[in-house]
Amino acid sequence: MLSYRHAFHAGNFADVLKHLVLANTLHYAMRKAAPLFYLDTHAGAGLYKLGSDAAHKTGEASAGIKKLNFPALLAKAGPEGKAALQTYFDVINPLLQQGQYPGSPLIATNMLRRNDHLHLCELHSTDYRLLLDLCEHDKRIHYEQEDGYSRIAALIPPVQKRAIILIDPSYELKEDYARSVKAVAAIYERMPTAQVLLWYPVVLRANIDWMISSLMKTGMRDLWQVELGIEADNEGFGMTASGLFLLNPPYTLATQLRESLPLIVEQLAPTGGNWCVKNLVPE
Ligand SMILES: C[S@@+](CC[C@H](N)C(=O)[O-])C[C@H]1O[C@@H](n2cnc3c(N)ncnc32)[C@H](O)[C@@H]1O
Repeated sequence: MLSYRHAFHAGNFADVLKHLVLANTLHYAMRKAAPLFYLDTHAGAGLYKLGSDAAHKTGEASAGIKKLNFPALLAKAGPEGKAALQTYFDVINPLLQQGQYPGSPLIATNMLRRNDHLHLCELHSTDYRLLLDLCEHDKRIHYEQEDGYSRIAALIPPVQKRAIILIDPSYELKEDYARSVKAVAAIYERMPTAQVLLWYPVVLRANIDWMISSLMKTGMRDLWQVELGIEADNEGFGMTASGLFLLNPPYTLATQLRESLPLIVEQLAPTGGNWCVKNLVPE
């Protein structure tokens, strides 16, 4: 039985990195006219109220998205960082103005075009219902209350021939570490050109080191790791950092992140904050 609800965490420092990367990956993909397939294996509810009891209970958004001063970030960033921050800001700001924060499905639906296709999987019955209520009218979207990992074999490669896949488990179950790595390997095998974003939390660094060595053993190329932390690792006493493994990211993304992550860290965690953008395996 799943108990994780993203409403408690929406807009935290992990969402800031994840959605900055997602928005810029989608933005780059929009440069080509050919239709795109977007798969969100762990979609969540899609939209979150920053003033809800859940958000107040953890205060995570207050230490994340609500703490960011975008005009100051944009004024200080280099040209690539500024473009990346602006892309993220443009997609979240209309909702922030209403005291809300978009989840990955809403970021994608707002950025994708009429001829693109979205496939969203969410297992939790309450969040699945919220997701349906939010975007049921959108004919580009296919929904399933199914295990996202197990849908990969049927959905990849898609007819569209271009795919962006977000794998964003809660890691409530320890097996998520192994299942998510296997999922990336399966996608690579079925569609080596797919762009994959696999999110991870840093609670025990050893789990992340294991993911890196397992991914590198698969033989996949163009593999990256990006990370943003608010404290040094503390080995099991909560999430101190989070990151993404990226397969085939846009070639512009590394510079965009190198020019924006230090500024985000400066605002969110001026002492003890950290970031990295690493090419684990070249193209
Ligand atoms: C971190 S949240 C997703 C947040 C969302 N991707 C976003 O960025 O806004 C993880 C979600 O995955 C759901 N979930 C957990 N295991 C799943 C599985 N095997 N398949 C599909 N959804 C799952 C949880 O109910 C939860 O809503």
